[in-house]
Amino acid sequence: MGQRTIIKKGGETYMQNFVFDNKTKIIFGKDTEQTVGQESVSYGNKLLLHYGGGSIKESGLYDTVIDSLKAEGIEIFELGGVKPNPRISLVREGVNLCKENDIDFILAVGGGSVIDSAKAIAAGVKYEGDAWDFFTGKAVVEDCLPIGVVLTIPAAGSESSAGTVVTNEDGWYKRAFGDIKLRPQFAIMNPVLTYSLPPYQTAAGITDMMAHILERYFTNDKHVELTDRLCEATLRTIINNAHTVLEDPTNYDTRAEIMWSGTIAHNDLLNTGRTGDWASHDIEHELSGIYDITHGAGLAIIFPAWMKYVYKHDINRFVQFANRVWDVEIDLNNPEKTALAGIKKLEEFFKSIGMPTTLRDAEIDDEHFSDMAKKAVEKGQLGNFVKLCADAVERIYRIAM
Ligand code: NZQ
Ligand code: ZN
Repeated sequence: MGQRTIIKKGGETYMQNFVFDNKTKIIFGKDTEQTVGQESVSYGNKLLLHYGGGSIKESGLYDTVIDSLKAEGIEIFELGGVKPNPRISLVREGVNLCKENDIDFILAVGGGSVIDSAKAIAAGVKYEGDAWDFFTGKAVVEDCLPIGVVLTIPAAGSESSAGTVVTNEDGWYKRAFGDIKLRPQFAIMNPVLTYSLPPYQTAAGITDMMAHILERYFTNDKHVELTDRLCEATLRTIINNAHTVLEDPTNYDTRAEIMWSGTIAHNDLLNTGRTGDWASHDIEHELSGIYDITHGAGLAIIFPAWMKYVYKHDINRFVQFANRVWDVEIDLNNPEKTALAGIKKLEEFFKSIGMPTTLRDAEIDDEHFSDMAKKAVEKGQLGNFVKLCADAVERIYRIAM
């Protein structure tokens, strides 16, 4: 967002200037996927249909999408096979396919991995060099193809975010970059399409969306009460619905609450007037880059460890988190106790929804800690709430053991 914190006398900060610019049209509710043809046709007649490993064929969504696109006379080119933690090799294939066939529009049908792959293709098509250049910072997006989304898993928030995260198999670098031009034009979100999600994916999605809020919540900016309270409300909504959605996966209302929360968590509304942290995401990306674990599961391990490492930097903020999100009573004589109780609540919650909370749970040992920590800070120190060097990152991996 490019804001600058303005320091008042006495070291306090004002709410930052901000621009909230999110163009993604959200089309939410039952049967909305049937409108995908109508929504897509205004972007052209040649469309790349991008999807993952087969869940959309099993659920019948693939057929619905094809019928709707054909009804509008759209010519469809297909590229399936996006893996969770999407790969640059498939992005390159997609770029070539789009260039060879003069594709006008990319439709991503799936989750964050498919959408991120679509975004990288969309940028790569309008660029002469290699799409990986965007992820290393060698190139910036001047132009890109428009993208649309039919979302099947609430988690990454990529359906209206500016970011994309892709893995380069050459060295197993998982890297992110963002540009608001990459925000999808529309996101079709039918909670019924998420009924088929296995409990593990549902829980990993819940963890990821909570992490997106927490990354923004732990800020050094002070006068951001509305944004704080929006963050807390979204966290409480997710927590309140999480167990029901796992016990009763075809409960429409609960799936709907979770799905909408996932978008709100990451569309940048909860970022307004402040700078978020984002170290935990970078630390996690090293894990899913090397070990190919699910991003949400990696965050369930890293986030509590990061909190234990940084909480002393601003105990009051952790006390607020414990009290307003988890209803922990504030102990005025011992705020540290309250702060730690909030972290414990978060950890217990992740456990209760079936997430691993230690690296041991995920069968990861300390063999690569030092390498991962060095790799994580290759472009500079991580985080904003607290700046982390390689040593600090390694200590967080150790806390996460
Ligand atoms: O490939 P298919 O067969 O479709 O199966 C997928 C995949 O195996 C399955 N799935 C999706 N919808 C389903 C379903 N299975 C049954 N029923 C359904 N309705 O779920 C598995 C995971 O899919 P994936 O797209 O990988 O999940 P998610 O949305 O969690 O995306 C994770 C990726 O997003 C990145 C992560 O790093 C990770 O690579 N992120 C992207 C962000 C962004 N662009 O803004 C921000 C996030 O922090 C995150 O880093
Ligand atoms: Zn995430």
